[in-house]
Amino acid sequence: MKKIAPSILSADFGRLAEEIKAVEAAGADWIHIDVMDGHFVPNLTIGPAVVKALRKTTALPFDVHLMIEDPDRYIDAFADAGSDFLTVHVEAATHLNRTVNRIKEKGIKAGVSLNPATPVSCLEEILPECDLVLVMTVNPGFGGQKFIASSVSKIKRTRDMIASLAQPVSLEVDGGITLDNIETVSAAGADVFVAGAAVFGSGDYGKTIQAMKEKLTDKK
Ligand code: DX5
Ligand code: ZN
Repeated sequence: MKKIAPSILSADFGRLAEEIKAVEAAGADWIHIDVMDGHFVPNLTIGPAVVKALRKTTALPFDVHLMIEDPDRYIDAFADAGSDFLTVHVEAATHLNRTVNRIKEKGIKAGVSLNPATPVSCLEEILPECDLVLVMTVNPGFGGQKFIASSVSKIKRTRDMIASLAQPVSLEVDGGITLDNIETVSAAGADVFVAGAAVFGSGDYGKTIQAMKEKLTDKK
């Protein structure tokens, strides 16, 4: 079952709880939460205290994307705050195997993410340890950027690598996903679609999410 994960980076930060409830009512499957530290990416966003406060607003899975250096320092805090998925960047974690296993020891799902310029081959050793792979389809740091077209072939190659494993791994895409490209990205093998500006920038969250899901159902 393919999933839509609205990114609250493009929500109204003054009304985050209401915005989460609104996308839940609109048919969101997961809530994508972008954590930025001003070092790994040139922006600052949300910390564990905010995740903990938002945890009360919904039972939907919290898909927390750590765009931070040395993520080991914050695994316990984000897991204890109520994350269901915790995703770290391969470019930011020196001892990635330890990091991924630490996340799983906390009893939650572990994801790894690749920046656009990071090759799929970087996943080779870590993939069997992962519950999820997140392929960035923009350079991380900001919402509302343009989808990088060469990502389509990268998604296909990531899907092929996952298919060669014995266990299932979710393949998530993040950045510039819209009603115009979601079908192509889905056909390439993605199964979780982060959408920030396309959902929160639309006048009608329900209409947008349903339209995205229709495009996914047709192509399954
Ligand atoms: C980018 C973030 C994304 C972002 C996606 O650094 O990781 O999750 O919010 O936003 P859109 O869908 O607007 O590109
Ligand atoms: Zn993200």
